[in-house]
Amino acid sequence: MSKIQNKLSKSFQSFNKSPYSSVKISSYFDVYDALFSKYIGKNITFVEVGVLGGGSLFMWRDFFGPNARIIGIDLNPGAKRWEKDDFEIYIGSQSDPLFWKKTLEDIGEVDVVLDDGGHTYEQQIITVESCKKSMKDGGMIVVEDTHTSYMRKFGPKKYSFINYAHNITNRINDRFYALSRNNVKETSIYSVRFFQCFVVFDINRELSTEPHEGIENNKNNTNQVDYRFYSHKLVFYLEKIINEKGIIQKLLILKPLLKIIRHIILIYISFVTRFKLRKYFKNS
Ligand SMILES: C[S@@+](CC[C@H](N)C(=O)[O-])C[C@H]1O[C@@H](n2cnc3c(N)ncnc32)[C@H](O)[C@@H]1O
Repeated sequence: MSKIQNKLSKSFQSFNKSPYSSVKISSYFDVYDALFSKYIGKNITFVEVGVLGGGSLFMWRDFFGPNARIIGIDLNPGAKRWEKDDFEIYIGSQSDPLFWKKTLEDIGEVDVVLDDGGHTYEQQIITVESCKKSMKDGGMIVVEDTHTSYMRKFGPKKYSFINYAHNITNRINDRFYALSRNNVKETSIYSVRFFQCFVVFDINRELSTEPHEGIENNKNNTNQVDYRFYSHKLVFYLEKIINEKGIIQKLLILKPLLKIIRHIILIYISFVTRFKLRKYFKNS
């Protein structure tokens, strides 16, 4: 018996109970359980892209229970056969924004989208971009088999799905400044989670657009000097000279010069740091 067969994973049990064929990677079941367990028994709308063989539809019905609305999307019209088993099936391409518009208008608000369709970058990106508008706050879009970003034939590497996910991550972090400039580029995806072969987009419009500000707790301020650049000796002494009040009075004329020197040293440190950090970016 393999390690995976010993697992008590709920999704693995449902996978085994499905009457129709489905092929998964053994590591996926831990991810499914971690992401989806909170929905078990709930009245949710779950949309899966890529359902032709039917195996995963039955797996999700068993996993979520009878209250869940399980909807399948596939390009192959053969998938319609699962309607007789009370699944809602839509036929069309996940890389077609118009198909998504019509389909999502019909479906209404969605709790979870799981993309296990064609896995090209275009299909994955259009799926996230089209679905995020129809997700409930608190819902999630889960894209499976994201290792295709490192494989050939799935699209232009520069616009791989993983690069898209990184770009969303940048937009999320850029909100720190963009909110104050009223220029927020990502207003639905609150956070991005990376797992092996999965990327998860958590949807929350309220938290994504909530204004923020610095807050002080108004307690005793001991006026500590921030040592962030002090690890370099020379900068340490320059900072000391520039900041210490007594000396500043005497060196008032020198102060701008010292600041220029400090700036040049910081540029040099940043240059040297490149070589130190390079190893953490290998194989990416
Ligand atoms: C990997 S299989 C799905 C397996 C299924 N989820 C399971 O676990 O048993 C991929 C499915 O995606 C469908 N597909 C491929 N390209 C598609 C597209 N552009 N739009 C919608 N479905 C697509 C295929 O027809 C196929 O049924």
